[in-house]
Amino acid sequence: MTDKEQINRRRTFAIISHPDAGKTTLTEKFLLYGGAIQSAGTVKGKASDKHAVSDWMDLEKQRGISITSSVMQFEYEGYCINILDTPGHQDFSEDTYRTLMAADSAVMVIDAAKGIEPQTRKLFKVCAMRGIPIFTFINKLDRDARDPFDLLDELEKEFGIGTYPMNWPIGCGRDFKGVYDREKRCILAFTEFHAGRRRIEGINCELNETEKLDSLIGERARRELTEQVELLDAASFDFDADKVQHGKLSPVFFGSALNNFGVEPFLESFLKMTQPPLSHQTNEGELSPFDEHFSAFVFKIQANMNKAHRDRIAFMRICSGKFERGNEYYHVQQGKMIKLSQPQQLMAQEREIIDEAYAGDIIGVFDPGIFSIGDTVRDKDLKVQFAGIPTFAPEHFADVEQIDSMKRKQFAKGMEQIAQEGAIQIFFMPGCGMERVVVGVVGMLQFEVLEYRMQSEYNVGFHRSPLKYREIRYITSDTDPKTLRLSRDTLWVQDVKGKNLLLFESDFDIRWALENNKELELKEFNQ
Ligand code: G4P
Repeated sequence: MTDKEQINRRRTFAIISHPDAGKTTLTEKFLLYGGAIQSAGTVKGKASDKHAVSDWMDLEKQRGISITSSVMQFEYEGYCINILDTPGHQDFSEDTYRTLMAADSAVMVIDAAKGIEPQTRKLFKVCAMRGIPIFTFINKLDRDARDPFDLLDELEKEFGIGTYPMNWPIGCGRDFKGVYDREKRCILAFTEFHAGRRRIEGINCELNETEKLDSLIGERARRELTEQVELLDAASFDFDADKVQHGKLSPVFFGSALNNFGVEPFLESFLKMTQPPLSHQTNEGELSPFDEHFSAFVFKIQANMNKAHRDRIAFMRICSGKFERGNEYYHVQQGKMIKLSQPQQLMAQEREIIDEAYAGDIIGVFDPGIFSIGDTVRDKDLKVQFAGIPTFAPEHFADVEQIDSMKRKQFAKGMEQIAQEGAIQIFFMPGCGMERVVVGVVGMLQFEVLEYRMQSEYNVGFHRSPLKYREIRYITSDTDPKTLRLSRDTLWVQDVKGKNLLLFESDFDIRWALENNKELELKEFNQ
C-alpha cells in the first residue's frame, strides 16, 4: 500500500459524552467489531479484575471514574481507526479539550432519557470551535426514553446546529422494536440476538407494506412510525454533506450500545461520511496530511501510565507524512534533532511498539521531560510550526507549600513536571521562592490528583490552602506590578516564564484595579 493510501484509510475521532451516557460501552462495541478485543468488559474493568485501558491510576479506580484519556487503534473493513477516548468526569475537562484538538471528528453519545447534560454541552463547544464534524449517537433506546423529536429539538436549540436523523427509533423501553433506516428505507428490528457479535441485517420493508410491517413491529407501532417518518421527511433539514463536514449539521443515530443494536450501521455510515485526516494550521499556512514530510504535535503528556515502568509518555498527533522508527526528527521548541524512543500505539488494551505510523495516527513516545503540550516535531526540512493548543484559564487556586525542606528538589521537580503535562498550572509569588507556589486548576479534582501523584511518584507531601481567587489576567502594559494600587482581594503572581499576572476574587476587583491604575492593561488568560 502506498503512503497516500495508508493516510486515506485513516479516520481519527474523539468520543465524547457526559459520564454514564454509554461512551465506554460504545467504544467497546467498536473494538469488538474490529476484532481488537474479544470480550465485552475489557475497556473498563470496573467490577472485574480484567486489565483496563482507561483506568490506569489507582485514584481513578478508587473513584470509579475515568479521569485520563486514552487512544485506541483498530482496523475495520479496510479502515484504520483511531479512537480518542475522553474522560467523562467534568472536573477533568482541560485534558479532554486538548484531546479534541487531535481529532478530525467527534462522536457524541447521548442518553436518550436525559438528552444534553452539562459535560456534553462543554465538549460540544470545543468541537464547534474547531468546526469538526459531529456525529450523534442517541443511546439506551432499550430503556424509557424522551420523545425523539424533543431530543432533536434540544440539540438544535442548545447547540445551534442542524440535525439529520439517519434512522428513527420505533418505540422505546419495553416497546422498543428497532429503528427505521431512512436511507435504505428498511427496518432494523430489535431482537434478543443483539448481544452477540453477529451481523444483523436490516429487514427490507417499505412503509406501505403494511402486513409485513404489522407482523414485524405491530400495527400501532407501524402507524406511529409512518406518521413520524412523514413528519420527518417534510420538516427535517435536508442532508447536506458539506454542512456535515463543517460541523453545521449533525447526523443522528438511535440505538442501544449495550445491546449492540445500531452500532454497526452507525460505524459504517460514520466511516462513509467522515474524511481522511484533515489539514492543520501552521505558521506557514495549511499543511496537508499528504505532504511527504513527517510532522506532529504533542497534545497530551501522561506520566505513570504503567507503574512498573514509571514512565512518562508524550502523545503526538501525526499531521503529515509518515513516521519511521529509528529516524531522527526535529523538535522545534528545543531546536534539536531527537530520536523518538519507544514509539508506541495502544491497540485496544495492548501497548505495542511500532515501526511506522501515518498522518492521522496518534503515537506515544517516551518523554524524558523535554516535551510540553503543543510542541512541534517534524522533518528538519519542513520548516513549519503548529499553532499550539489553547490553555484554559484555571478556575480554582490554592496556596501550596512543601512540608519537608529536605525535599526541596523533589518538590520543585514534581511540580514542574506535572505542570508541563498541563494537569495543573503553577505561579510564583515574587519573593517567595519555589517552596511555596500558587497552583491553578480547571477542575477541583486536579488538586487531589496532584496530591496523590506528588506523594506516590515524588514522595513529597505539601500543605494546601484554598485561595478565593476566581479570575486570572495577564498584565500586558509595561507597568511595574510593584507600583500598582491593588485591593486586598487581588494577588500579583508570575508564570514559569516570568510573565506578570493578577489573580482576582471577582469581576468587581478587576474593575477596581483598572479604575485605580489608569496605565494598567489586562488580557484574558487564554487569548
Ligand atoms: P460512560 O463511559 O459514558 O461513562 O458510560 P458506560 O459505557 O460506562 O455506561 C454507563 C452505564 O450505562 C453502564 O451501566 C452501561 O452498562 C449502561 N449502558 C450503556 N449503554 C446502554 C444501553 O444501550 N442500554 C442500557 N440499558 N444501558 C446501557 P452500569 O450498570 O453503570 O455499569 P456496568 O456495571 O454495566 O459496567
